Amino acid sequence: MSEESKKLQTVRGMRDILPEEHEYFTLVKKAVRHRCRQAGFKRITTPTLEYADVFERGVGDATDIVEKEMYTFESRSAKRMSMKPEGTAGIVRAYIEHGMSSWSQPVQFYYIEPHFRYDRPQKGRYRQFHQFGFEVIGARDFSIDAQIINLSYKILKDLGIVDRFELQVNTIGTPECRKSYEDALQNYFFGKERSLCEDCQRRAEKNPLRILDCKQEDCQILASMAPKFDDYLDDESREYYQNVLAFLTELGVPYVENKKLVRGLDYYSDTVFEFWDKTQGAQNAIGGGGRYDGLCELLGGQATPAVGVAFGVERVIAHMQEVNVEPPKKDKVHVYVACLGDFAKKKAVKILSDLHDAGIHALGAMGKASMRSQLKNADKFDVDWTIILGEIEVKENIAIIRNMERGAQETISLDDVVENIISKIDKKEIDRYEVGE
Ligand code: HAM
Repeated sequence: MSEESKKLQTVRGMRDILPEEHEYFTLVKKAVRHRCRQAGFKRITTPTLEYADVFERGVGDATDIVEKEMYTFESRSAKRMSMKPEGTAGIVRAYIEHGMSSWSQPVQFYYIEPHFRYDRPQKGRYRQFHQFGFEVIGARDFSIDAQIINLSYKILKDLGIVDRFELQVNTIGTPECRKSYEDALQNYFFGKERSLCEDCQRRAEKNPLRILDCKQEDCQILASMAPKFDDYLDDESREYYQNVLAFLTELGVPYVENKKLVRGLDYYSDTVFEFWDKTQGAQNAIGGGGRYDGLCELLGGQATPAVGVAFGVERVIAHMQEVNVEPPKKDKVHVYVACLGDFAKKKAVKILSDLHDAGIHALGAMGKASMRSQLKNADKFDVDWTIILGEIEVKENIAIIRNMERGAQETISLDDVVENIISKIDKKEIDRYEVGE
């Protein structure tokens, strides 16, 4: 057995999400679901494992994600598989596979899923992380690009963190004008490769656009003197982009234009955008997206325009914690049921079950501990009320209800316990669940 497996710890870069963090996850999921439903989006989940091809073709085999960060391996039947590093390529694969072009267009999806990237773990950067995102497939209209950004903006606002970010927007044009720009960049960087960082030396040939947003100083200096995309942008792309900006202004979404923004995935065309932390810039962007009109065709479908965005849930939560957003304490336990003896325990279990049905969070009726240590335990669970069922109480068909804060106790008939507790709990705290609600 290897040292790592003996210690039985999480894999590097992968984290347990403990209950306290889950309260934030729940809040984020609810905000996303609520806003997405308002805008007519439906939820989709694609598998964690896809054939590697989906991402190699979709995200692009010259991108950092595919070159360095994908968990790719051979299955037992020697098929190359990857754990999804992002959501968009899998969703477009699903769009094609399920013939969604015959559904009413555009098809609008949202998702909240774990994703996997073999990145160097650090704060805000994990190997298993979660994204929420939305995709609109089957329509090309600048109003949709602006609406997607507006939806993102509203969710950040709902979560109390919108002021921490600056929306950066750019256009990378149609594939045709981008191609002539890429040719111009290749010519420009030809012969200058030795002044570029190792990554950009590779990019110079395969993906020169990415050199523009490299963080290395030497690459930045060279990039600042490179041909400008503005000179290659065709009129249609320029007009489309200006319309996106005008619609953002109409919607009251503040933005800054950033001519260097190109995004790290190959499938984009026209609009690209990222939400940057005002204090950290491009490092740890909280979310980003753009238009990807060529992806469907690239994955074997018909040409189908689309646009989307995704956010890192862990990063969103870290920002919420920094500004002290308090998620509601939905996991609070209201009642502990303490009992002595088997007969009392039977009664206690029935009371617990009835309390649960009444929407009251309650636990107890376990073990053989003394009444004293059961009360101590009740204290640790920080309950408001403890129901005490000793052997004598049960014989007399009564129970003691103890107010844990004041220490005051009252005795009531066993038949009235559940009703009595219901009357004591704040109506806002009652957690009734109806199937189909
Ligand atoms: P992305 O920019 O690669 O875009 O990722 C979106 C967000 O996921 C990032 O802004 C970041 O918050 C989060 N994220 C990425 N990698 C990590 C990591 N290793 N640890 C923690 N968080 C991370 C996409 O994935 C595109 N699919 C977005 C999109 C949707 N474009 C069109 N539709």
